[in-house]
Formats: sequence, C-alpha cells, structure tokens
Amino acid sequence: MCGIVGYVGHRDCSDVLVNALSHLEYRGYDSAGIAVFENGDISVAKTKGKLINLTEKMKKEGKPKGIAGIGHTRWATHGEPSDINSHPHSGAKVTLVHNGIIENYKELKDFLIKNGRTFVSDTDTEVVAQLVDHYYDCINDPIKAIIRTTQDLRGSFALGIIFKDFPDTVFAIRRESPLVIGVGEGESFIASDVPAIIEYTKNYYLLEHDEIAVLSKDGIKVYDSHYQPIVKTLKTADWDVNAVGKCGYPHYMIKEINEQPTAIKNTVTPRIKDGMPDLSECNIDPDFLRKVKNIFIVACGTAMHSGMVGKYVMEDIARTPVTVDIASEFRYRNPIISSGDLIIIVSQSGETADSLAAMRLAKSKGAKTLAIVNAMGSTIAREADMLIYTHAGPEISVASTKAYMVQLSVMYLFAFQLAYAKGTIDEQKYKYYTSKLLETPDLVKDVIESTTEMAQKISTQLVSADSLLYIGRGLDYALSMEGSLKLKEISYIHSESYAAGELKHGTISLITPEMPVIAVATQSALYEKTVSNIKEVKARGAKVIMICKESDNVGEDVADFVLKIPNFEEILLPMLVCVPLQLIAYYTSVQRGNDVDQPRNLAKSVTVE
Ligand code: G6P
Repeated sequence: MCGIVGYVGHRDCSDVLVNALSHLEYRGYDSAGIAVFENGDISVAKTKGKLINLTEKMKKEGKPKGIAGIGHTRWATHGEPSDINSHPHSGAKVTLVHNGIIENYKELKDFLIKNGRTFVSDTDTEVVAQLVDHYYDCINDPIKAIIRTTQDLRGSFALGIIFKDFPDTVFAIRRESPLVIGVGEGESFIASDVPAIIEYTKNYYLLEHDEIAVLSKDGIKVYDSHYQPIVKTLKTADWDVNAVGKCGYPHYMIKEINEQPTAIKNTVTPRIKDGMPDLSECNIDPDFLRKVKNIFIVACGTAMHSGMVGKYVMEDIARTPVTVDIASEFRYRNPIISSGDLIIIVSQSGETADSLAAMRLAKSKGAKTLAIVNAMGSTIAREADMLIYTHAGPEISVASTKAYMVQLSVMYLFAFQLAYAKGTIDEQKYKYYTSKLLETPDLVKDVIESTTEMAQKISTQLVSADSLLYIGRGLDYALSMEGSLKLKEISYIHSESYAAGELKHGTISLITPEMPVIAVATQSALYEKTVSNIKEVKARGAKVIMICKESDNVGEDVADFVLKIPNFEEILLPMLVCVPLQLIAYYTSVQRGNDVDQPRNLAKSVTVE
C-alpha cells in the first residue's frame, strides 16, 4: 500500500506533488509528506493524517518551493501513524519515499547501528534511506548505491529517492510494488498509479522489477539492474481527466455507482461477435475450456465476492465444479490443483499481494491462470496466462462498486463461453444469455434511478443500528456477502451475511428487535424457502428489509420495507440487485457522517500480506 509520487519540471513542485497524492489517497491516508529541492537543500513537510492536514500545515508554515521533489501518502505497517513515522525519511544526504515492506529491515537496521547510524522512526523505510546513504558514502555514485542497496533488501518496494548532491533529480526503483514514470513536455513524474499524473500527461513507462529511472531536466533515463541503459516502450492511458475527478458528485463512490452502466458497456460490448462472447483476444481457447476439470476462483474482498456469483453461475450453466477461495487462505493451504485445472484470479488493482502469490503458486503447480483485472499493465495482468481486462476506468473510492460490477459482467461472459464450450448450453441459449447481458447497462441505469429513494429511506432505519444481518440463498447469498461488506466497510456498523437456511443453526439467537435483517430474495426457485426464513426472524422481532422482484407480492407479515427491482433474466439479476445494496451502504455512511471514500483503517490497494 502507500502511494508515492515524484516530479521534475517547471511547475511549482509542492502543488504538483500534493495534487498527484490526492489521487493516490485510496492507497492509504495515515500520513502525507513531501520533500522538495529548495535553494540547494532538501525541504521536507510531513504530518500524520490525511493529505488535507499536510496542505493546512503548509498553508500556515509555508510550502517548500522548488521544481523537483518526491511525495508520499501512507498506510501504516511499521510504526503507528505519527509525524515521525511519516515519509519522506532521510539519511545524511539521501531522502526517500517508499511503498512496500522491507522484510529484513531488522537485520539491516542492526547492521547500520553497528556502523554508527542512528534512527528516529520505527519504520522499515528509514532503514532503506540510511542504507542508501551508507552505500552512497562508500561508492559515491547514486545509481550504484541504489543498486547495492536493493541487493540487500528482501520484500517489496517502490522508491522515490533524492540526493542532496544531485539537485532537481529524482531517482526511482521498484520490486513487486508498482511504479509508472510519466512523460510530459519538459517535465516528468513518478507515481504508484497512472491516475496521479493523468492531469499532466497520459504518456508513461511501466517500470519493471529492479529497473532504475532517473528524472532530471535532461529527460528520463532508465537502467537495468546492471546499470545498463534500456529503452522503454511508451504507453498511453485511454482515460481523460474526468476519470479522476468527482465531476460534481459529493463522493467518488456515488460517482462510480453512476458510472456502472458505461463500465459494463466498455467491458462487454467489444467482446461480443455475432451475438456471442469472443474472448480469443484474451488468449482463451474454447478447446481448453472444453477440457477444464476444476475451476478455482481466488481473490480478496469484493473481488472474491464477484467470484461467489461466478461459482453459482458456472456450476449452474456449465456444470463444472468451481471452488472460491480467499487468496490469503489458498496460498498457504497446500491446495490440490493440477495441470487440468484453471485458476481465475480476480483483482481490481492487479497488485494485491495475496492474490498475486496465489497466482504464482497455481502456476508453479502447472495449472493455467486466468486474470480478471482492472488496472492495465499491473503485475497480475502481466503474469497470467490468460487475461480479461475489466474496463471500469480508475476506481478511486476505497469501497469498490463499479469494479465489482464489471467483474460480475466478465464472470457471465466467461461462464457463457465455458458452458457453450462444454456443450451444456446450445447456440440459441448462448446467444440469448448474451443478448440479455447486453441489456444490463440500461437496466442498471434504471435501477440506480428507481431504487435511490428507497435506499435512502432504508438507510435512515440502519443509521443507528449496532449490528445487522444480510441473508439470502444461492445467488442472493453471494450478493448478501458483498452487501454486508459494503455496509460495514464504510458505515462501521457490524454486519454479517448468512445463508438464509443456515440461520436457525445458531445465528438466529442474535435476532432482537434492534437487529435489522436485509433479506435478498430474487430467485424464484428459492423464493418461498427464503420467505420462510424471513418469517422466522420476523417472528423473533427483527425489522426486515426485503429486496425482491417487481412481481413479488410481499405482505406486511413478511417485511417492513420492500425494495423492488425489475423482473429480468434471473441468472443476471445480481448485476441489478447489487445496485441497491451499494446505495444502502452509501447513504448509511453519508448519514453517519463518515468519510465515505476513505473509510478508517482501510486502503484500496493491498500490497502487503
Ligand atoms: C482491499 C479493498 C477491497 C478490494 C480488495 C481486493 O481490501 O479495500 O475493496 O476488494 O482489497 O483488491 P483487488 O485490487 O485485488 O481487487
């Protein structure tokens, strides 16, 4: 986690760094800091808390003035959030910012202490700063000092480094943690992610492991780990500046909820040929699909929940066994996988440490890997055997909405193709499902409009709850998981999702009139069963909020509040039902006065275990 930026150019560097960091706060917001070359020296401004604290501090105390420097926004790992632990960290001549974790920082720190170095912070990053400084003292060449330092480091890092002796020059290197180098007109950037710099340039290089970039007024030079110059391929981001702004919405989350119809269109439409999904550009061969024995969907958080929907759909229509695994569990449980199996890794960021490790493990066991990823050029995207990009555009709110929606849409594309390849659906059905999927963007738009008011009303019922339950069966259970996570991560109300039929085996003892229950019941075959379970909680005093189809007649004996979604192809209903679940979470968080886009303790891109 953490976001790093760097700038060399002609603009006010502090302003550029702060602006770039504002687009990286999704990576953490425990502290913010910048270091800028000013009058032949390096000026540092840093403080704990969100970026706004730093800007206020600089308003009062003055901002560093210069045209080159580095910046950081932190998600604390080593050492509590504090001014002292905030980045940048410095040695005598070296100042740097870091995203990642140095696993052997303790032994390196001991080595440096033996060599007379002293430390002021608890961070692993200060150890790196002192180590670069140490080697720079010995070697007197910044690039050689950086290379020598990284030979000692274990773990992950993206580093932005400046040396007192090299004014207006920024050095950068990465291993595992992502880093892009922005190429502007007479200016250059480093950033953990493209949205940070999109306002200035759409052109960038992707830095590979252990490559070193040097940004100066002479332009950008890149070297490999043997200090040999290399030529990089220029990439161009295909979004505009609006993609990273709020565009009049009060929060990114609600903007991103509203962007879902477009995101689905961008993800699905280009992949339909002759009325059927065509995933050949993703390196997916129907003949391979025909032979696949077992599928494992491995991911974290919301991405894992999209996999739960995928499991129900694939098992139902393609009759193929699918196991959904939490990546951090999968990687350490010695999973039984072999060469005939397919491992699907789902990740918005494409950088989640556990998902990446799970994918590498699957590959090492000879299984084929398919990545469903939103971030272009991310590590998971680059290392997978097969790749389906979701085209949600940048998702800034920490709580994922549009990325989940397009992950669902890809689950369907894939499931339809799998089922057709396996012969469990015929061409007519294949085309029918596809045509229905193509209807979802418009329907999602309608559902946003038609359910907002009810979602607001429901949120007023939840706002003072201490705890609630989400229940459902089948696909509705898979959705409940995501609804519950969404609510708890941004409203801070405890909530659990439960398979409706399982409640009576223990959890029903929690039910009191103070515990609202959100019941999702959209699948006809399970409707009556779920209604029975709803009645069981209702009989015990629970206030019930029910989400069902327009055609369902729900009496007051069943639910206190009913939120209806249009009747539609049932297998695809998750794409509609997730909308009110997102809206309920959003409005509850707003009413509780929480920071919707930057909930406490969380970060969007989790590059640590
Ligand atoms: C974090 C985010 C979640 C996300 C999960 C997996 O926990 O807060 O929103 O679902 O990581 O991230 P990924 O980038 O792999 O989808």
